[in-house]
Amino acid sequence: MTELITLDECEQLTTEQVHDLYRRYVSRSQVSLIGSFGFGRDLVDHAEGCWIHLRDGRRILDFTGGVGVLSHGHNHPRVLAARQRFQRQRRMEVHKNYFSPYVAALSHNLAALLPGDLNISYFPNSGAESVEGAVKLAYKYHKGRRGTVLHSDIAFHGKLMGAGSLTASPEVHFPYPRIPGTDSFGYDDLDSFLLALERHTDSAGGSDVYAVVLEPFSASSLRECSAHFLREVRRICTEKDIVLIFDEVYTGWGKTGALFHFMHHPGLVPDIVTTSKSFGGGKASISGYIAREPVFRAAYDNLSDATLHSTTYYGFGEETATALEAVSIVVEEDFPGRARELDELLGSGLAKIQARHSRLVRDVKGRGALHGVFLTPGPRIPPALRSILPPGAARDPQMVAKLLTGAVIAALYRDHGILTFFGSNRLIALIVSPPLVAGADEAQLFLQALDEVLDQGAVRLLTGLVREKVTG
Ligand SMILES: Cc1ncc(COP(=O)(O)O)c(C=O)c1O
Repeated sequence: MTELITLDECEQLTTEQVHDLYRRYVSRSQVSLIGSFGFGRDLVDHAEGCWIHLRDGRRILDFTGGVGVLSHGHNHPRVLAARQRFQRQRRMEVHKNYFSPYVAALSHNLAALLPGDLNISYFPNSGAESVEGAVKLAYKYHKGRRGTVLHSDIAFHGKLMGAGSLTASPEVHFPYPRIPGTDSFGYDDLDSFLLALERHTDSAGGSDVYAVVLEPFSASSLRECSAHFLREVRRICTEKDIVLIFDEVYTGWGKTGALFHFMHHPGLVPDIVTTSKSFGGGKASISGYIAREPVFRAAYDNLSDATLHSTTYYGFGEETATALEAVSIVVEEDFPGRARELDELLGSGLAKIQARHSRLVRDVKGRGALHGVFLTPGPRIPPALRSILPPGAARDPQMVAKLLTGAVIAALYRDHGILTFFGSNRLIALIVSPPLVAGADEAQLFLQALDEVLDQGAVRLLTGLVREKVTG
């Protein structure tokens, strides 16, 4: 009989055994890539709040925010309790012939929390699925009579074929076939937006654009659209009956200091908003789109189209029960307020660090609990660095920024037990994104550690990274 690894045995695997299984059955290149930045040698025992506890007893301060997923921190007790309760009561997961009270209540709560008539929800599992669902809804709203969807030139909407077609971040760098009829405009650039619309307007003034997909705050590049841009885009979309989709997969649930980032702008309401990540409280893989009632009703609210768009796992039991609790926590623990407090601490702390390390820190920006530090080795690559960089790297400022940022991330982890990551949109940023359960103490620990790491200077940091790669 084939020997299968049991759950018990799985939990006893050593780092070497896990690497070996990854190399053989998951991805060799993932093992090399993660290893080259000084990671991948530790295994996690458990994680709670802002802290990751390693098998060797060390604890790590998690400042990644789980790449958007962990606003509630790891294993929030209320989220765990909701899941345990669901399991204890042996609730049912698949609701196809029965209505789900969880889907009903979750949809109600989202309608209550969101402005205007953003009232109708759909809950698939990943961010990309929510974006694709929203774009399909917009296409259907126009009965397939319009053929163009616009996105921004720094957009990140996911990596599936459809969402990837609307993504302009170099993270999706292979020229996969795209869905037909995509075009782009400069982020936060009204002239560019108007030109894009004009390219798809016929001689009688009719628009071929069925949807505009936009991140009001771009988490991957830490940029946000101005109020003027957003309001103009809204006004023009209304005028031309274009479905305006705000992608808040990353920024929803308080991250930038408002429940959803667009809610920083009173009266501004998209036709559809997408959400995921911390919507699942760090436990459930759930996403959603919430559509304005007239838009949804025009697209799908008839018997023959009632199941035109669905996925197997949409509205799954424990995922929706978890999201219900996760959303209550966001509201009761005032996540937007917590993000605003973190914004004050991190914003002023990072500005001081930038002033103290002006040769290394080119820029800091962000909002709420989502900031970025843009690093540079200086106006020119110091000669001491040229000899240690990989061939060609000295001529590529992005490559140098990536290595330097990687070196800072590695030093923060190795010397200070703090976990961060870098964003891979156009410009490389060290992302500073604590869970929203972090407080002043954690922010202070991070700021002091970053200050000390940057004290080492570019040459020492990069030499350390190269040495680690060679000996690692
Ligand atoms: C703004 C935005 N949209 C969509 C996605 C895609 O989500 P997923 O990776 O769950 O498909 C992401 C993922 O980071 C995102 O940040």
